[in-house]
Amino acid sequence: MPMRRLCLLLLSLAAPLFSAPAIAAEPLVVAAVDSPGKVLRVELSLDEGRIAWRASRLGEPIVAPSRLGFLLRDAEKLERNFVLVEQHTSARDETWQQPWGENRLVRDHHVELRARFAESMRAKRTLDLVFRVFDDGIGFRYEFPQESATDVVIDDELTEFNLVAPAATAWWIPAGEWNRYEYLYQRTPIEQVGQVHTPVTFRLASGLHVAIHEAALVDYAGMWLRRVEGTRFKAVLSPASEGWKVRRRAPFTTPWRTLRVADTAAALYESNLELNLNAPNQLGDTSWFKPAKYVGVWWELHLENSTWATGPKHGATTANTRRYIDFAAENGFRGVLVEGWNRGWDGQWFGDGNDFDFTRATDDFDLEGLAAYAKQRGVHLVGHHETGGAVSHYERQLGDALDLYRRLGIDVLKSGYVADAGQIERNDGDGLVHREWHDGQWMVRHHERVVREAAARHIAVNPHEPVKDTGLRRTWPNWVSREGARGMEYAAWGNPPNPPEHEVNLVFTRMLAGPMDFTPGILSLMGRKQPLKSTLARQLALYVVLYSPIQMVADLPANYARQPEAFRFIRDVAVDWETTRVLAGEVGDYVVFARRERGGDTWFLGGITDENGRVLDVPLAFLEPKRRYVAEIYRDGDDAHWRDNPFDFVRETREVGSADTLRVRLAAGGGQAIRFVPKR
Ligand code: NOJ
Ligand code: CA
Repeated sequence: MPMRRLCLLLLSLAAPLFSAPAIAAEPLVVAAVDSPGKVLRVELSLDEGRIAWRASRLGEPIVAPSRLGFLLRDAEKLERNFVLVEQHTSARDETWQQPWGENRLVRDHHVELRARFAESMRAKRTLDLVFRVFDDGIGFRYEFPQESATDVVIDDELTEFNLVAPAATAWWIPAGEWNRYEYLYQRTPIEQVGQVHTPVTFRLASGLHVAIHEAALVDYAGMWLRRVEGTRFKAVLSPASEGWKVRRRAPFTTPWRTLRVADTAAALYESNLELNLNAPNQLGDTSWFKPAKYVGVWWELHLENSTWATGPKHGATTANTRRYIDFAAENGFRGVLVEGWNRGWDGQWFGDGNDFDFTRATDDFDLEGLAAYAKQRGVHLVGHHETGGAVSHYERQLGDALDLYRRLGIDVLKSGYVADAGQIERNDGDGLVHREWHDGQWMVRHHERVVREAAARHIAVNPHEPVKDTGLRRTWPNWVSREGARGMEYAAWGNPPNPPEHEVNLVFTRMLAGPMDFTPGILSLMGRKQPLKSTLARQLALYVVLYSPIQMVADLPANYARQPEAFRFIRDVAVDWETTRVLAGEVGDYVVFARRERGGDTWFLGGITDENGRVLDVPLAFLEPKRRYVAEIYRDGDDAHWRDNPFDFVRETREVGSADTLRVRLAAGGGQAIRFVPKR
């Protein structure tokens, strides 16, 4: 699509304007930019040399003047004595294509403001601020020009989001705590938010929905948010072992700080703000990555039916893996994950992965033979690298380990960083152990390195205990999924387990960031010692609701054999989408998705609810007009309830068209999945 570019250079406002006004009530606005549809407006102001940003929507303030700047290690802070020396706006309206994703086409429609500020005294340093304003959100970043040959060492980023959000409700997980991103989402008044990860989601008293996050987290520390007072939030950068937060050689840009703003929860989800702010694909043709479903030696480990460690209960044996390969081949699933295949699992690997060997299999696992057998059966092994947080140890083997996978046709890698937050082990060869955070600059660099090395060998990656997603799949489309929240494993052994509202919370918080390897489809509805808080139909709906281009079919083959009717949906459901719509939803309560498969005309619907049952009338207007479809409906039975009747389930078919409205009945803790097949 042709790109419209409209550039207009505004002369900077004359310097004398910046002298303090007599009554310093309102800071002086020096630059402003409106979104293309004049929905959102951002203004930059100077208050006695301090830069602030603020935002409004349709004339109502949503962000009050908010601080910008940095504390630096070896220099005076970058915050005061600024004057605006140059500003420039430009507009873009362009549609780009995703190699895989929730939508094939993504529209990037924004107006950009670039503002250059310079210190009026002493060091006379300059700092550029770039704002991109869309109708559904705002992104801004700092650009450090090259001004000296020494590194910029950032001790603190002063960015604030001073929300105008009295009596708002917030959904959040704590940041800086030991379990990384694996907390249950809390729903509290905004004034009870502490220090949180992003995305963090707010519903304002007016009904407006706001989510703060970041985009393009590259060679920088992940951003947490701390509530300073009232409804004012400040950026907190994830720590580094050296004591500073970020060290970079200028010129460089920070990640984008983002704010999605939408009338409804559905529109909040549908925004592509962070993807649009990321740099385009740097890898060229990545069609070697195939979105697909996978099975594997996994749930049995979490049930403790088998072990990662070698011995009588070892899960990753040749014979057991052959059974999964056969199961995958028989059902059309592409991948077979095997955890515990390599050496190093026999001791205490949680938080200590120094025994892991990523190129040598255990004696009872014939890696070469199994890769060949998989190939013969038309499936692919999925690789697994658990690091136990010993990341330098892993990096030393990375090249060889990926070469091995490349040679064997293993083209998707699940990795793992099981260690408490702040306990990643880094050795620089100085004999010392440095402890890093999962989302600090050092780990952000590590993930980039793995993604690039893997891409060079046509391998896709799916890290668990990862750094959060900031839309980098656009730049590196082999970064296909990740964990970064409480997944299905918590249904096996979580204390407490995931409550019914959990997956609904995920949709409007964690999933705003990007794909999650949640690993749904536990049709036994049984964890290690505890039942799942889910109905059967809900397990099917999760394939449509929780997006990932690789979806695990996570349960044991024997459990699928017991539920042939429900299993049919898992076989049939697509994993790559032409288009995605949120038909209905409220944060934390319920959500209904419709997605059309990529390269086809079959539609899928998935709806889930929290602990409350609901009846929703869903217009089928998304279907192609004048076409008839067979709706294969997988729903909760009339007496279903997650607590005491979760297996009550109905599969039925109906003929429908786009003019119909479907009554979607969701049991408490339930769900519904539908496949709409066009009639020939
Ligand atoms: C935690 C991951 O989330 C899980 O999927 C994996 O099985 C274990 N780590 C072991 O690597
Ligand atoms: Ca995990």
